[in-house]
Amino acid sequence: MPFVRKEGRLALQQAGQDIDILTLAQSESHPCYIYDGDDVLNRLKALKSSFDRPVSIHYAMKANHHPEILRRIAAAGYGVDTVSMGEVKKAMKCGFSADQVVLSGVGKTVAEIDFAIENQIKQINVESVPELQRIIHRSQALGKVASVAFRMNPDVDPKTHPYTSTGFRDNKFGMDQSFLPQLIRLVQDSQGAVRFMGLTNHIGSQIRYTDAFEEATEKTRRMLDHVLESGIPLSTFDIGGGLGIDYDQYDPNKDLAEIGDYGLKMSQALKGVDLEIMTEPGRVIVGRCGILVTEVQYVKETPYKNFLICDSGMHDLIRPALYRAHHRVEPLQLKSGETKIYDVVGPICESADVLGYDRRFEGVEQGDWLAVFDAGAYGAVMASSYNLHEPAKEIVFFDGKAY
Ligand code: LLP
Repeated sequence: MPFVRKEGRLALQQAGQDIDILTLAQSESHPCYIYDGDDVLNRLKALKSSFDRPVSIHYAMKANHHPEILRRIAAAGYGVDTVSMGEVKKAMKCGFSADQVVLSGVGKTVAEIDFAIENQIKQINVESVPELQRIIHRSQALGKVASVAFRMNPDVDPKTHPYTSTGFRDNKFGMDQSFLPQLIRLVQDSQGAVRFMGLTNHIGSQIRYTDAFEEATEKTRRMLDHVLESGIPLSTFDIGGGLGIDYDQYDPNKDLAEIGDYGLKMSQALKGVDLEIMTEPGRVIVGRCGILVTEVQYVKETPYKNFLICDSGMHDLIRPALYRAHHRVEPLQLKSGETKIYDVVGPICESADVLGYDRRFEGVEQGDWLAVFDAGAYGAVMASSYNLHEPAKEIVFFDGKAY
């Protein structure tokens, strides 16, 4: 269980001890991300055991690529989903072997494809016909076989934010069924330059409506059966990532129940599929594990609106500004006093620089520290240098030790 209250103060419980977050934050005296690494590994385990069959988890490192987190995930034997040469290189540096690396993404350059082929990574998830043509061409030039899977677009509404929906037919991602004959012909004509591994889909992120996963899996499965019926042997079926978390509240048991429910649903939808099942989760693994801590610089009260002006903002955590995403914000130490409503904002010269709208605080003062919760996924990795504030430091704890 990541972060708990101990006599009103937020603490991280690990290895039988309580790490006091306010003491840690004050010693850093700067906004920082604090991660519970043990929780990451626990959630990976929970996801794996939620399936009633073996499943190969490829952690989507775009969500959080702290090197110690990657090292631990690699050491625990999981794979990794990457979307750039930078990610592939970092993953391999942190201990993932090439046969645990999947490369996704719509815009792979020649350099990225060459790097993937040279290193013989497990699977390149292909998103378009010209991409497959490029891969075949580069495989032939390099004299090495590339393992490819086709990312299908099952045209499903995942009922999530439009910016994080990827499985609609008008999204730039994946290909619909009508492309399959052409793709297969290209593979067959490539004279062994590429190995056709299987199909994949990824319909979006922060998906709370899990029926969408069933629908996407069923639709993609029908395409898979179609390929298998035509006598082409396949090895993998990659069901993507996207499982969301409840940003409004945190109940560890509910979280585990939701992971369990997802695994069960997917297991049902995959009954009879005799291939290696792969998944690419990001947020559900690391989202809960992180908080962003920030100090209140000014309490600014006006006749129209009250603000807690903090030293962290959209440059460290852009999700509220970009998606109007909700993150719980709480003081590191609970206080009593007058209760007022504030917008929690940062120092950036933009009115979108908000960490939380209309939040209730009791007795809050200049110099207090706040925690922005569920910031472990798509937090530090999406930070920017805008306004040139020093970036938030990242500290991860494993077994009570800081890295
Ligand atoms: N696989 C592929 C091909 C992806 O594009 C993604 C995420 C994942 C797996 C992992 O999805 P997850 O399990 O984390 O939902 N910046 C947004 C999220 C963008 C997700 C991009 N792709 C946010 O802050 O909500």
